[in-house]
Order: sequence, then C-alpha cells, then structure tokens
Amino acid sequence: MTDNASVWRVRYQRPIEYEVANCENIFSLENEALRSIGKRRDTRRFIIVDENVNQHFSKQIADYFEHHGINARVLVFPSGEKNKTVDNYLWVLRELDKFPINRRDEPIIAIGGGVLTDIAGFVAGSYRRGIPHVKVPTTLMGYVDASIGIKAGINFNNNKNRLGAFEPPKKVFLDRNFLKTLPPRHILNGMCEMIKLAVIKDYELFELLESHGTSSIESRFQDETSASILDRSVGGMLEELQPNLFEDELARKVDFGHTFSYGLETHPETDLLHGEAVLIDILISSLLAFARDLVAEQELNRLFDLVSKFGIALNDTLVTPQLLWETLEERTYHRNGLQRVPLPKGLGGCAFVNDVKFEEVESACKIYEERKKSNEPIYQY
Ligand SMILES: NC(=O)c1ccc[n+]([C@@H]2O[C@H](COP(=O)([O-])OP(=O)(O)OC[C@H]3O[C@@H](n4cnc5c(N)ncnc54)[C@H](O)[C@@H]3O)[C@@H](O)[C@H]2O)c1
Repeated sequence: MTDNASVWRVRYQRPIEYEVANCENIFSLENEALRSIGKRRDTRRFIIVDENVNQHFSKQIADYFEHHGINARVLVFPSGEKNKTVDNYLWVLRELDKFPINRRDEPIIAIGGGVLTDIAGFVAGSYRRGIPHVKVPTTLMGYVDASIGIKAGINFNNNKNRLGAFEPPKKVFLDRNFLKTLPPRHILNGMCEMIKLAVIKDYELFELLESHGTSSIESRFQDETSASILDRSVGGMLEELQPNLFEDELARKVDFGHTFSYGLETHPETDLLHGEAVLIDILISSLLAFARDLVAEQELNRLFDLVSKFGIALNDTLVTPQLLWETLEERTYHRNGLQRVPLPKGLGGCAFVNDVKFEEVESACKIYEERKKSNEPIYQY
C-alpha cells in the first residue's frame, strides 16, 4: 500500500507450474495417469473428445473410466478448424453446465488436436472464472506445439484465435500411439512446426530431420529415433515458451513462420492447414533472410530440399505480395506496433527485423515462384 490514502496498489504473484509428460498407452487399464488427476478420485470427469479420435478410441475411453469407477460424461466435438467457433464454445459450456463438477478437484479432460485443446482450454479458462483442465493431444501439431503451452482460443469475426485466454493446464499427457491413426496430411502438418523449430533454434534437430524425418513420417513416429525427435521438439518448444509464457516479450522465435501465414490461413478461399500455411511462410521468410545475407544459398537449398523430400503438398495459389504485405501490416498491430519478424540466421539461429519493405516481399515471392519450378514435388497438391 502507498501512503496516499486514495491510491491502493494491489500486487499479487501466482506461480505457474504444470507438467508435460510422456505417457504411453494412456487408456490402458493399468495406466494411472488419467485416473489420478484431480484430488478426489473416483468421481466425475467431463471429457471433450474430437469426433475422429472418438471413432478410433471411444470403447477404450469408456472402458477406462468405467474400470476406474469414474462417472464420465463424454462430449464428442465435431472435427476441424471450421468448428472452432463461438457457437461451439457456448455449446460446450452449456453441456458442462448440465454436468456439475467440483470447481477445483474435477479437471475437465480434452482429448484431440489443436482445435479441440484450444477450445477446451478457453472453456476451462472462462467457466466459473477458471476450472482446471488436462490436455491429451492426438495430432502431431498438438503433440509438439498446440497443447503444450498455455494459449487457448477460438476464431471470431473471421479472425483466427481472436478470442482466447492464457490458461495453464494442470497436466499435458503425450501419447504418441495416437499418431498411428492420424491421416498422413496431418502428420506432415505437424512436421511443419518441427521444421520451424529446427530452422530457427535447433540445428541438431534440423540434421535429425534430414537424416530421419522421412522414416519418422513413414512410421508415424513409432520408432525409437522418432521418439527422441519428438522429445527434442517438445523440449525445445517448452524452452522457448517457459520464460515468456504470457508473451510479455512480443519478439518470439516460435513466431517464425507465423507472420505471413496468418493471411493465408484466414483467407475465405483457403484450404491450407495451419502447418501448411506456416511452411509457406517459413520458405518466404527464409528467402527474405537470404536476400539480407542472413542465410547462405547452401542453407536455403538444404531447407527447400528437406521440404521437398518430405513431400509436403502446398496449395500456394493465394500467395501474392499484396496479401503477404497486408498480413504483415495486420501482424504489426498484433505485435504492438513493430513488425518483429523472426528470420533465420543460418540454420538454427534467429534474427528479428522491423524494417521489411514491400519490395523485399515482392522479390521473395518472385524467387519462390522460380524455385517452385526446380522443387516441383513441394508444390503438387
Ligand atoms: N494454442 C497454441 O499454442 C496453438 C499452437 C499451434 C496451433 N494451434 C491451433 O491448433 C489448430 C490445429 O490443430 P491440429 O492440426 O491438431 O488440427 P485439428 O485439431 O483440426 O485435428 C486435425 C484433424 O485430425 C483429426 N484427428 C485428431 N487426432 C486424430 C487421431 N489420433 N487419429 C485420427 N484423426 C485424428 C481431427 O478430427 C481433425 O480432422 C489450429 O486451430 C491452430 O490455431 C494452437
């Protein structure tokens, strides 16, 4: 308190701590992970499950909670980005309201990809001003990125994640068995975020992706080297997120690939997945970096070759200098008045720039078009 009687200063600090834990075979009856969350055992759990995940795992989920004597209300959530809406957010809240749970001791459980964990996190953050939640990612995107941080949100007014909250989970359980049923396009979609991390911060990860990425894709990350690639990606991502959980610092390495991608994935005619839009941005941003001598030609070639080798199909018909420029202007508001564009510095390093010009974007788009011709496999859709 200050001496001045008409000014009261309130200060409060709340520690944030949660675990992201590898947890194989999460629905095996012997696995205690989901059973033991929350202080009271054997009570109620509100569980939100992605519809495609439910198709594959509904019996295992039901058996698991029944075996442990838990009264589980499973809400099956429709799949896909188009469902990350205000209406669905309110629907989940209404369903939750019909199934009373203790405010502190009965965490809600989110089982699905980034769409589902984002919406469930926002539900948890706003219902009764905050109830605990646990995340179980079932996509590669969720595993290495969407579920392990504290950002939650829904799309609003044609903007992605325009409504949301920073809502730390109680726990995140990573079970790579879910990747066995994930469609190939979504394996590649998650790969794009791993390429991002490799290029901007982790040269060794880049080398691992070069040497083992293709077999990881083929095995859907079920072999041991793939497990260590996943661990490295999760660890690296958390290393970036932890010191800046609430994004007080707006210049973030993990925003590499998230500048121009925004306009591409929110365009009314888009059919790009989040990771695909991010990958187009990674390539354009790397061309910008090359033009500024931040990246050598040989490094650029290694990146394009890697993407080409993975066979990631990109529908880049929306890429124009105008759209990318307008997006950069919009992102500048999001980044509080400065561009703060993360560009690669070599492979594994990062430089932030605030002075990207339209002409540079135009020229990067031209070179991108030319490279298309020599890297045909990347661009087939
Ligand atoms: N909060 C964050 O920090 C953060 C970070 C990155 C991305 N995101 C968000 O994540 C979302 C994208 O996430 P996503 O790529 O996981 O998409 P998604 O949640 O739409 O899942 C992709 C598809 O895979 C299906 N699916 C999920 N798991 C499956 C499984 N094991 N087997 C078979 N099918 C399965 C889903 O039904 C869906 O059709 C975007 O909305 C993006 O904004 C959030």
